[in-house]
Amino acid sequence: MTTDETELRRAMAAAAEEIDQALDILLPTEEGDEARLYAAMRYATVGGGKRLRGFLVLEGARQFGVSRNAALRVAGAIEMVHAYSLVHDDLPAMDDDDLRRGKPTVHKAFDEATAILAGDALQTQAFTTLAEEDTHPDTAVRIELVRCLARAAGARGMCGGQMLDMLAEEQGGDLDESAIGRLQTLKTGKLIEFSAEAGAVLGKAASSQRHALLGYGRDLGAAFQIADDLLDATATPEEAGKRTGKDAEAGKATLVSLLGPERARIQAERLVAQAKTHLDVFGERADLLRMLADFVIERRS
Ligand code: IPE
Ligand code: IPE
Ligand code: MG
Ligand code: MG
Ligand code: MG
Repeated sequence: MTTDETELRRAMAAAAEEIDQALDILLPTEEGDEARLYAAMRYATVGGGKRLRGFLVLEGARQFGVSRNAALRVAGAIEMVHAYSLVHDDLPAMDDDDLRRGKPTVHKAFDEATAILAGDALQTQAFTTLAEEDTHPDTAVRIELVRCLARAAGARGMCGGQMLDMLAEEQGGDLDESAIGRLQTLKTGKLIEFSAEAGAVLGKAASSQRHALLGYGRDLGAAFQIADDLLDATATPEEAGKRTGKDAEAGKATLVSLLGPERARIQAERLVAQAKTHLDVFGERADLLRMLADFVIERRS
């Protein structure tokens, strides 16, 4: 492992621990008659995943000297929305998967109704968190965070992309590169863009700096989904912590199915290089974000 990889791994592991602590405080405790719902919400979020989106929030916020507590609340919120998207993505009506983050999916460990409700409640808990005063003293900043995350997660963001993704199974080879790019921008890119931009919102950054982070998030998100599709084609379930080979099995149109793995990887590398150019304005302070861009396509899980 290179020094950069070791440094990034350490920083991501430390951030993951802090994010877990934040989630533990932000999520309801498992008591009362609804304890089953709370248990499923915790099962889906606490102690799992790479925390890429939360890490992006923390590193973005660090560029502007935002308080750690505020950044951790937003990191927790985005990880809740991301976890909700995974819980629903794994349902029988969608990808019908049994394994997530190396353990049974929520509908397998609990049941389908509980998984649907846990996803719904994680999403609303995320917005409650953003709206609370502890996230930022300025109401305008809190509203901006709520607006940006709602857009990123909704009809013109993740949900819209998931719809296109479901349709892509039926359309298979009919999708061209730009249609697949659009699908991926919505399904995966928008939440990653939000994660990169959120620190600038919290830090009331100049619009040029906010744009720089947004541009970084856009290219990173695109590279990230290509890497996910490459992993689906090449990683074992043990490495990935989830079933693999399922895109090809479902006949799903991805850049990997369209271009082949070599060209898809070249495209991802190009996007990573492009992502890093947006960080020039931040100097050395953004080194972990640069390393993260490299990690996104080198990862095996
Ligand atoms: C998986 O996301 C789903 C996609 C959007 C491709 P991650 O690979 O970030 O999943 P976790 O959070 O690390 O489990
Ligand atoms: C999931 O994409 C994207 C969202 C949950 C929004 P995938 O279906 O490719 O993710 P995995 O491979 O199941 O993690
Ligand atoms: Mg899916
Ligand atoms: Mg899936
Ligand atoms: Mg996938």
